[in-house]
Amino acid sequence: MAALKLQVNGESHSIDAVPEMPLLWAIRDVLGLTGTKFGCGVAQCGACTVQVDGKAVRSCITPVKTVEGKKITTIEGLSSDGSHPLQKAWIEIDVPQCGYCQSGQIMQAAALLATSAKPTDAEIDAAMRGNICRCGTYQDIRKAIHRAVELKGGKA
Ligand code: FES
Ligand code: FES
Repeated sequence: MAALKLQVNGESHSIDAVPEMPLLWAIRDVLGLTGTKFGCGVAQCGACTVQVDGKAVRSCITPVKTVEGKKITTIEGLSSDGSHPLQKAWIEIDVPQCGYCQSGQIMQAAALLATSAKPTDAEIDAAMRGNICRCGTYQDIRKAIHRAVELKGGKA
């Protein structure tokens, strides 16, 4: 075990953990932020997606020691009040079915919009390819990303 310092959603945390522990365990089991989901555990589904320094990462395969000192954002940190354009668009388009994959989808989409002000369908599909939805909400996810761009006024 080691004392590790994590910056999650703008707050500093010191946790005792095995340095190789997946970030996902630290987020869910140690910090109690359960919006991020466990799906496959092997970087094949995207359910566990969070952002590290603004980039989408699969927290199920990210050793917690590698993200010390970095800025980690989970779905709970996207906005405190549901005001992020993606959250608004997701509600407006009514994207989720069972909902299990959706926090990962939104965090992946947020990383895309942070670097691409107005992604095309092809860019959206390429960015979102690794996020699996067993309920097949892909068309609505694409629509919601376009809607979020409108709500943001086309600015990255
Ligand atoms: S749980 Fe991490 S990619 Fe599936
Ligand atoms: S909404 Fe059910 S898995 Fe995506």
